[in-house]
Amino acid sequence: MASLKLSAPSSQWISGEKHFSRRSCLRTAAPRRVAAGPIRAGSYTDELVQTAKSIASPGRGILAIDESNATCGKRLASIGLENTETNRQAYRQLLLTTPGLGEYISGAILFEETLYQSTTDGKMFVDCLRQEKIMPGIKVDKGLVPLPGSNNESWCQGLDGLASRCAEYYKQGARFAKWRTVVSIPCGPSALAVKEAAWGLARYAAISQDNGLVPIVEPEILLDGDHPIERTLEVAEKVWAEVFYYLAENNVVFEGILLKPSMVTPGAEHKEKASPETIAKYTLKMLNRRVPPAVPGIMFLSGGQSEVEATLNLNAMNQGPNPWHVSFSYARALQNTVLKTWQGHPENVKAAQKALLVRAKANSLAQLGQYTADGENEEAKTGMFQKGYTY
Ligand code: 13P
Repeated sequence: MASLKLSAPSSQWISGEKHFSRRSCLRTAAPRRVAAGPIRAGSYTDELVQTAKSIASPGRGILAIDESNATCGKRLASIGLENTETNRQAYRQLLLTTPGLGEYISGAILFEETLYQSTTDGKMFVDCLRQEKIMPGIKVDKGLVPLPGSNNESWCQGLDGLASRCAEYYKQGARFAKWRTVVSIPCGPSALAVKEAAWGLARYAAISQDNGLVPIVEPEILLDGDHPIERTLEVAEKVWAEVFYYLAENNVVFEGILLKPSMVTPGAEHKEKASPETIAKYTLKMLNRRVPPAVPGIMFLSGGQSEVEATLNLNAMNQGPNPWHVSFSYARALQNTVLKTWQGHPENVKAAQKALLVRAKANSLAQLGQYTADGENEEAKTGMFQKGYTY
């Protein structure tokens, strides 16, 4: 039998199959690729595991600034700025050149424009990140569109051409990827929408790994709705069961992925709020039931919670040992105060960077289970939930 190199890229592995002659396959009733088990992500496997481990390192988490140009425009509009490339560059420069950021931040998710962009002094943003030992990541999905045949639900596009895009992003310095799809509880969710979300995530994860990028797997269960926390738990368990089923079917290496779940909370319009302890209890129950310990890191999204709420909830989840690194990958819950401090004025850049460090440090402490909300200002306690929010 042809010997298969375990470290060969899957493309080579597929061509390796030619060694099994068609005739010999036909001769035996059930030809078996005995070696198929361990052959998964190909030549990048070791690197993927290392990348995921370094992102999931103690006291660190992810800064998500991968807003599409349209969504970045909304952020800028909130402080009265026009959505121009220059303004987007100025904002991202502020964030990505914050001195000392690497102490608390291990990865930054970028939008394509930022991955290829430089500071106004001509230094590539990816190099600014490397200097701080922050891994550059890239949003690779192409956004949500209506899912025909569903209950007004959506599906996430972006698989076409994904392999070549990932290969290009890797060349440009990206080492991990993000694909965000959503599940809506008030809309059902329908079995079709859950299956589509899980299958899309699994195909994306396999393709990313094949091209050297650690996939962040993000089926966001939206906060929208007036349901109790028990209903969110039920839906989250269903969604993650399906996601892991298809990840396994697609031979994704679990040691080389990161998850980006929503926390298990009551719907945003539910009559009662849940405490951080309750949210931690439900969320960890769901994760312990569904996520194998081989997965190195759980990097939560903030989903419209206030900055302080998101940090308190993360802190509550780190009060005891977990099988995985439990941390953050926040966009809104890291950027809100920064934007309001900056207001688009160059003279406010330093203060805004300081505000980013305050939030990053607070979440770093929460990752270590050592955060108290003492001294947090009112702005950081303001919720950011918007009904039907599109990212
Ligand atoms: P939020 O933390 O604003 O929910 O961001 C989610 C996200 O997917 C960003 O990458």
